[in-house]
Amino acid sequence: MTSGPFDERLRKVEEEGLFRRIRPIDSAQGPTTMLDGAEVVLFSSNDYLGLCSHPKVTHAAVECVKRYGWGAGAARLLAGSMTPHMELERRMAQFLDKEAALLFNTGYAVNTGVLAAMMGRGDLIFADKLSHASIIDGARQCGAKLARFAHNDSESLEALLAKAPAGGRRLVVTEGVFSMDGDIPPLKWIAAIARRHGAMLMVDDAHGFGLFGPEGRGTIHMAGIADEVDIHVVTLGKAMGGFGGVVAASRRIVDGLVNFSRPFIYSTAIPPAAPAAALAALDIIRGREGEELRRKLFKNAEMAVSLLRGRGLKVDSKTQIVPVVVGGSEEASALSSKFLKGGIYAPAIRPPTVPRGTARLRLSITSGHTEENIKKLGALLG
Ligand SMILES: Cc1ncc(COP(=O)(O)O)c(C=O)c1O
Repeated sequence: MTSGPFDERLRKVEEEGLFRRIRPIDSAQGPTTMLDGAEVVLFSSNDYLGLCSHPKVTHAAVECVKRYGWGAGAARLLAGSMTPHMELERRMAQFLDKEAALLFNTGYAVNTGVLAAMMGRGDLIFADKLSHASIIDGARQCGAKLARFAHNDSESLEALLAKAPAGGRRLVVTEGVFSMDGDIPPLKWIAAIARRHGAMLMVDDAHGFGLFGPEGRGTIHMAGIADEVDIHVVTLGKAMGGFGGVVAASRRIVDGLVNFSRPFIYSTAIPPAAPAAALAALDIIRGREGEELRRKLFKNAEMAVSLLRGRGLKVDSKTQIVPVVVGGSEEASALSSKFLKGGIYAPAIRPPTVPRGTARLRLSITSGHTEENIKKLGALLG
């Protein structure tokens, strides 16, 4: 039985039409899936390159389970670290051109774990207004002062840095591609401003890694600022089609995280099949197949944007994330229900995930969508 503020909060969420419900699916991730027993085209998955069920990736996971078993047994500092974890860290550090990398259980754990370990009372964190919850949670946990700059606005960042009190460490944090808006920040400007004001720079490229830059190294490599990024965060749960999070940084920072980052120290390590699958995914991403998947992905995304614009919608995206902002939560839910009746699954994204008044359908396009799938979107809006 729940009661008091918890129950009240839940009732308020119900009254405001913001109640969240888990929908069962009974098939692998892919452009089409079985939702509540019916086939739908999925426009909400982050499996951008179709690697969640790619035969080479699943084979690597299965072979790893045969060799190493399923579980990792304990946290890595306690029970030792299996080869797939170590190998993935070596390969990711090399690929991202950093001295070292550390694997966490999720991207969420990387952001909270890095911020809480590296920053503290008396320090200052400057984060974009639309930062992911994991960045905000990490900033709040560590006790540093959190200042939020206007979304993708380098002038707003500079103004905050300029008036910030002296003393304490400074860290600027942004994302490579914003998860709910699909836009890319002015990374070169942000890097230059951070440097000018003596701040470290952290970029969470959860939605850019695997997709942008040479061989899919991500947006910071595309922008040519990789050397200026002190802390490069990627997740294995999106374009990589798996599970886990990686931070790439200097050897000293990674050593510090091994010693101080609580989600790393106090949590059972991710099953070895996850880094084994990630190694296979990395090979695909770096190779010719990755190039081809990215070409298909961006062709699909362009097609979706021009089709939606053709239907009179104000959409603007140069990435695989195409937000259709409708405003109110009820309108967004109504549009999502209309889509579902027509065989498309794109749940409404409502506050608190996005600011009030900006409820939306967040369409995520994948390389596996067919022209027919995308045309269906337009037909439903007609
Ligand atoms: C920008 C951003 N950072 C971090 C995360 C968390 O990554 P993970 O799903 O691996 O925990 C997400 C996922 O929702 C995200 O969108």
